[in-house]
Amino acid sequence: MILLDQVTKIYPKDTKPALDNVSLHVDPNEFLFIVGQSGAGKSTLLKMLTKEENPSSGKIIVGGIDLDYVKKRHIPHYRRRLGVVFQDNKLLPSRTVYENVAFVLEIAGMSNKDIDRTVPKVLDLVGLLDKAHKFPSNLSGGEIQRVGIARSVARQPKILIADEPTANLDPVTTKEIIDLLKRINDFGTTVLVTTHNDGIVNYLQKRVVTLDHGKIISDQKGKGIYRLEKEEPKNKRKTMPKVAKRPLHTTPTKTPPKKKIIRTI
Ligand SMILES: Nc1ncnc2c1ncn2[C@@H]1O[C@H](COP(=O)(O)OP(=O)(O)O)[C@@H](O)[C@H]1O
Ligand SMILES: [Mg+2]
Repeated sequence: MILLDQVTKIYPKDTKPALDNVSLHVDPNEFLFIVGQSGAGKSTLLKMLTKEENPSSGKIIVGGIDLDYVKKRHIPHYRRRLGVVFQDNKLLPSRTVYENVAFVLEIAGMSNKDIDRTVPKVLDLVGLLDKAHKFPSNLSGGEIQRVGIARSVARQPKILIADEPTANLDPVTTKEIIDLLKRINDFGTTVLVTTHNDGIVNYLQKRVVTLDHGKIISDQKGKGIYRLEKEEPKNKRKTMPKVAKRPLHTTPTKTPPKKKIIRTI
């Protein structure tokens, strides 16, 4: 379904690669977590698949399409085969939940009759049928994220890509969103999710690919768990520097070797 073969990405003006010789194969209907510290290359890997960025070298094939041959003018058409969920979903503020989902189907050229049949089904899937006529300003963060997911899956993509979809959500809502992504996967969609959240990774125990400085350092094919050290929150790092146990300018005082006590009888 997805194949990356020795993919390297060096952004202009960067010296170190954001992705360094990454090879990855994802089967149809897999659920894959991509984890790694911030800056590890997770978003870059997803951008390779959406063709937001092109690799510096290597080959990428998605759903049988060699991305080298997708011309710039065909990118929007190519992207319609993918569902993409963002960290912060930008909904159309002046349209209801129903209209927000209908809108993407209109753009895709679906007939009104089909739209009216599809939207309620999708809203039911994400648990928002009763909120269909609400406006985005009256929704919670989790509900907005669910509308975002509804928009992404409305056209029934074979692949769903989500870049840190739970980054701004509380733990309960996070679990709801992950359960929803799992349900979408159970219906036959290949799902790729990047995350920092060890809790959701350990909860689902799916395949886990760990990136570090642009390299895949582990690929747990099943029952994967989050093995990275947790990052310190950035705001804490400033206020709570690690304090050395002793002042740094003093030379360590060696404890004098114990004198041998020679007993003389
Ligand atoms: N548009 C860009 N231009 C230059 N460097 C970038 C760009 N996007 C990402 N990078 C660099 O590539 C590396 C990987 O970034 P990214 O893929 O965003 O990591 P992650 O999503 O794991 O936090 C980082 O060193 C980052 O600074
Ligand atoms: Mg990222």
